[in-house]
Amino acid sequence: MSSQKPSPGGLFEDLDPAPRLLMGPGPVDVYPRVLRAMSTPMLGQFDPQFTDYMNQVMALYRQVYRTENHWTLLVNGTARAGIEACMVSLISPGDRVLVPIFGRFGHLLHEIASRCGAEVVTIEAEWGRVFESDALRDAMRRHRPKLVAMVHGDTSTTMVQPLDEIGAICREFDALLYVDATATLGGMPVEVDAWNLDIVSSGLQKCMSGPPGSSPVTFNERATAVVARRRHVEAGIRSEGMLDAAGPRIQSNYLDLPMLMDYWSPQRLNHHTESTSMLYAARECARVVLGEGLEKGFVRHRTASNALRAGLEAMGLSLYGDPAHRMTNVTGVHIPDGVEADKLRGELLNDFGIEIGTSFGPLHGKIWRIGTMGYVCRKANILRCLTAMEAVLRRNGYACEAGAAVDSAYAVYDDATA
Ligand SMILES: Cc1ncc(COP(=O)(O)O)c(C=O)c1O
Repeated sequence: MSSQKPSPGGLFEDLDPAPRLLMGPGPVDVYPRVLRAMSTPMLGQFDPQFTDYMNQVMALYRQVYRTENHWTLLVNGTARAGIEACMVSLISPGDRVLVPIFGRFGHLLHEIASRCGAEVVTIEAEWGRVFESDALRDAMRRHRPKLVAMVHGDTSTTMVQPLDEIGAICREFDALLYVDATATLGGMPVEVDAWNLDIVSSGLQKCMSGPPGSSPVTFNERATAVVARRRHVEAGIRSEGMLDAAGPRIQSNYLDLPMLMDYWSPQRLNHHTESTSMLYAARECARVVLGEGLEKGFVRHRTASNALRAGLEAMGLSLYGDPAHRMTNVTGVHIPDGVEADKLRGELLNDFGIEIGTSFGPLHGKIWRIGTMGYVCRKANILRCLTAMEAVLRRNGYACEAGAAVDSAYAVYDDATA
């Protein structure tokens, strides 16, 4: 375990964190292949080997996102950087933006859109629920926004918003649709082209099982047309004949999508220094996920969640949220009366090395969130988590039948392989 006390030379100790099994809503354990990829030597950012890797990343994430979008690239920074890059590049001050909110991350989209100077209108669903398509259509009719910004899977409530009809509704009203797919990419279908999603961003630290710090983003020609009207070239790299577009300049330099497009295009116009090790990580995450096969991965997530949920219910616990719209990679479970939520989480962490998630806002102290994401989403981990939860619950005076949770989880896996 680490300590705050510097050693005599002032260097502190070697990094040596206690082993953990990360079963919260992300970050989760990283695929060993990804960790190995991150120790690959540096390359110069214009080295043809490196620019080839950039092109490969574009091709790999087109497959992960199931899109033909040419513009499929990485924003350096955590998922929030990808969200901000999309919003700040699309939204010109005064644009009307509709944000349907069904959890904490919808509120985040509202906050970011407001900072971009948008006139934001919201509709809200009760936490634990999602929107019917008709509610969206009504709001579109009333507000006529230029952009709709919404979350696919909101980890704060563990709910997933069906998106297959929303893209068509946005087109009916000539609005663009931005989607935050941070929590679902790699774990549940994110059908960018089939669902008409105009611009989508994500992160690595959930079902892609990479470290936080890189955000894959994809956008189609409709979104490209909007951001291209705001293209601007920095004075220090501008050569003769390069003209700025007529639209208002994007407020952020670092998160300016047209500048990133110039950097990720054959021109390789200099912008930031691409985060080399994170690009290696993102590339390897996609190779692992696609190597397994997207559909196979979705089934693995679904089976694991079913097994976990059967085990939790066998302990007499009740699951949170609308059963029809639960994500298959994170489960909300009500904290039973009389149990000290944080004490129990602490015992899971300190006695079993297992991290599960607390919750935010109106759900704080009411539910735990248990992630079954990416590399963590395996039978052995589901059984370990249930065994440990049963032990600490019983130790804290909660009455449940010993062994019932694991038996129920086994039954789900047995059925899945029958
Ligand atoms: C749905 C969703 N969006 C955005 C984020 C923010 O991601 P990051 O912390 O990587 O910036 C998260 C993180 O939990 C998330 O679950």
